[in-house]
Amino acid sequence: MIDLTVARIAEIVGGTLADISPQDAAALRVTGTVEFDSRAVGPGGLFLALPGARSDGHDHAAAAAAAGAVAVLAARPVGVPAIVVAPEGASASRAGVLEHDPDGSGAAVLAALAQLARAVADELVAGGLTIIGITGSSGKTSTKDLVAAVLAPLGEVVAPPGSFNNELGHPWTVLRATRRTDFLVLEMSARHPGNIAALAQIAPPAIGVVLNVGTAHLGEFGSRDAIARTKSELPQSVPSSGVVVLNADDPAVAAMAGVTAARVVRVGRAGPATPDVWADDVSLDELARPRFTLHARGAATEVRLGVHGDHQVTNALCAAAVALECGAGPEQVADALAGAGPVSRHRMQVITRADGVTVIDDAYNANPDSMRAGLQALAQIAHGGGARAGAKRTSWAVLGEMAELGEDAITEHERIGRLAVRLDVSRLVVVGNGRSMSAMHHGAVLEGGWGAGAVSVADPDAALALVRAEVRPGDVVLVKASNAAGLGALADALARDAPGGEPADEAPR
Ligand SMILES: Nc1ncnc2c1ncn2[C@@H]1O[C@H](COP(=O)(O)OP(=O)(O)OP(=O)(O)O)[C@@H](O)[C@H]1O
Ligand SMILES: [Mg+2]
Repeated sequence: MIDLTVARIAEIVGGTLADISPQDAAALRVTGTVEFDSRAVGPGGLFLALPGARSDGHDHAAAAAAAGAVAVLAARPVGVPAIVVAPEGASASRAGVLEHDPDGSGAAVLAALAQLARAVADELVAGGLTIIGITGSSGKTSTKDLVAAVLAPLGEVVAPPGSFNNELGHPWTVLRATRRTDFLVLEMSARHPGNIAALAQIAPPAIGVVLNVGTAHLGEFGSRDAIARTKSELPQSVPSSGVVVLNADDPAVAAMAGVTAARVVRVGRAGPATPDVWADDVSLDELARPRFTLHARGAATEVRLGVHGDHQVTNALCAAAVALECGAGPEQVADALAGAGPVSRHRMQVITRADGVTVIDDAYNANPDSMRAGLQALAQIAHGGGARAGAKRTSWAVLGEMAELGEDAITEHERIGRLAVRLDVSRLVVVGNGRSMSAMHHGAVLEGGWGAGAVSVADPDAALALVRAEVRPGDVVLVKASNAAGLGALADALARDAPGGEPADEAPR
């Protein structure tokens, strides 16, 4: 964070001082980072006391101070220097981000965090910082990582680790920026209408990217239209001086050109209406890494991606459009994209073990769109991405539940089961016995004369035992589910099973 006095922070958030005199608060400066985990606090830091399901941050204030925090942002005095904000009441809107916030004290601290982040963002933007906001149903983190990679040659980039895309992670990321930061790349996620507008208030993006309108969190929104309206809060919030990058291949995203005052840059595949930044001649290598020709500003540049799956073409085009807006040349963009491998854990990390087994670890997240993208990548790798015609590898899809689909859950799971058969996946391992997973299994069995290829197991341990016993050198295994299904550890275990398997926590870059 930029260096601010405790008194100035109290003024920004409208808080009162506790256990520190006004004179001391005017002299004491926060020079370190802002943290909500007391174990991450370092010298000069600011600690956010947030309630949690297991413990209350207020109880860790003393530990944070001992670790070097100069002050705590809290909802009540904590016995060490603090800026205290009043609880907002149990029904406060931000309470949804926190698992446990009975009296709204967490909501109050989050509101203060938002105000602090906004003040810091405004000051940094006045000094030349460019804020880039990314939203979409699938691919925000993947695209955020690509955007960070293409901007890195142009200046100092701050981007969140993993997702960090809600009312806690987003302002936390904003406060990582310093006066040296040139680009702040933010992921913006929504569970309810108004969420993205609120995040855009915290850090107003000069460049907004909308990837797609899918079915993630359909259960909470009720309809795809409602999801589209919520995603369109990003283009609506970008001012006329800014730029909005829209994926023209998704009609619901393309339509957002009508709701923004900003200049629109359309990206997409070659089609009848040529976008501003577009790809043609797309092909995939043997690990489903796309290659394509990038067309932008009259230039045609060959691009090879270091990330896996055809869906990454859209993500890369969005990243290219952002970099071009920020002053990069097409060759520079192509070089940066080539060097950008998977960064965030359990998202399409492809690991080939010494015995030739390829593990596609996509265990962090799943919705119907990303399941289709993951299964397609599996099929493409099994077929050698077109690069090794004739040598089809045995493919395994070890799939767990897609969360938060509401009343569509049964139908969507059944469809994925059918799709696995249609894509000619050799072995489907359905993990879990709930209604959704039974529907997936049923879908696969119904679709093919393929019964033996689809098995249902109770839990990740049983799935791991099965795959370990039956996987053969050269096979390809996709592991995919929503995070809650707990398949990440299974993917790690499979990757570690043979020499050459890289532990997934050591990102390959
Ligand atoms: N453009 C895309 N279209 C469809 N699926 C995609 C796309 N980009 C990435 N995916 C897949 O979607 C899943 C989630 O990717 P990622 O983590 O990048 O999305 P996200 O939008 O950040 O998700 P979250 O809302 O959980 O933060 C992964 O399985 C990934 O392979
Ligand atoms: Mg994400």
